Amino acid sequence: MNRETKIISSENVIDAANSIKCGGLVVFPTETVYGLGADALNPKACMDIFKAKGRPADNPLIVHIADVGSLKDLAKEIPDEAKVLMDRFWPGPLTMIFKKKDSVCDTVTAGLKTVAVRFPSNETAIELIKNSTGFIAAPSANLSGSPSPTSIVHVTDDMMGRVDYIIDDEGCEIGIESTVLDVSGDVFKILRPGAVTFDDIHNVIGDKIEDIPVAKNVSVPQCPGMKYTHYSPKADVTVVCGSNEATSEYILNILRSNNNEKIGILSYGSDLFDDAYCVIDAGCDMREYAKGLYYNLREFDRLGVDKIYAQFCLEEGIGIAVKNRLFKSAGNDIIYV
Ligand code: TXA
Ligand code: MG
Repeated sequence: MNRETKIISSENVIDAANSIKCGGLVVFPTETVYGLGADALNPKACMDIFKAKGRPADNPLIVHIADVGSLKDLAKEIPDEAKVLMDRFWPGPLTMIFKKKDSVCDTVTAGLKTVAVRFPSNETAIELIKNSTGFIAAPSANLSGSPSPTSIVHVTDDMMGRVDYIIDDEGCEIGIESTVLDVSGDVFKILRPGAVTFDDIHNVIGDKIEDIPVAKNVSVPQCPGMKYTHYSPKADVTVVCGSNEATSEYILNILRSNNNEKIGILSYGSDLFDDAYCVIDAGCDMREYAKGLYYNLREFDRLGVDKIYAQFCLEEGIGIAVKNRLFKSAGNDIIYV
């Protein structure tokens, strides 16, 4: 695992692309979160991704491409409605799962008959993919279980010494991972909510997308990866759901009866928590909540917080994806008030 990690800017993306061609590991920015990439056509390099992250081998990887034409080398069938979704949402934060061609290796798909494919919109990511082999397998660039990194500091915290290159560049304006949509069956299903929402997809392909609870709810793991502990900072997280007044009142009561615990509050629209050890403002809307979520969770750890209370209320649009990640980070320690 002991690699000499070079941190480079996007101007030197070719060095990183060459490393990928030679079986190296490269952390690169995307519009969602940083990815930990290797040549998707090289099973040994893909295996190294699992080692670097400490990721269970039964959790498949997404293959990143940089032009729609590359999809035919991975997918056995491309449904017409998926083509319409590509026209609308690629490049962007939508991953689609297709029946795979035999040439896609089992290391990437964890032995499944399907492959997840995404065309990211980040310019540096596109350059990296185009200048390597055209196919980069990449999970989020965190150690397994930790919040995905959306800043270079958090990338280096997790990945120094484990990868060959880290590309330090702007990105991650969305802040949470892509929507995962299974298009391999008769109806399409959201397996992981993200910035491309159920309504966005339904507006384009109508009832070809199944309106199942997972699109709106979070309790049933759908992606193989969703059954594992996720997005967890070191401090315990409790999510307090309800109106702003009710959640504020609940948290204020906790603070009043607190003796000596370092309590951090992820506050959403309340500035009442003067007695907390620290307060981080989640932002003014759910897009900002999403963008800052992983950064904020890791920031609480840096500040040495014992216990985090997160205020949460809105469950629509990208709020569904925020809820999904936040609830998982809390290990389902959720209080409704
Ligand atoms: O935004 C993103 O999607 C980021 C950036 C780097 O592109 N990537 C990312 O990868 O979040 P990862 O590996 O952390 O999450 C991919 C999810 C996992 O839950 C995995 O189980 C699921 O997609 N997945 C991958 N291939 C699959 C397949 N063939 N069938 C079902 N789920 C799959
Ligand atoms: Mg991940």
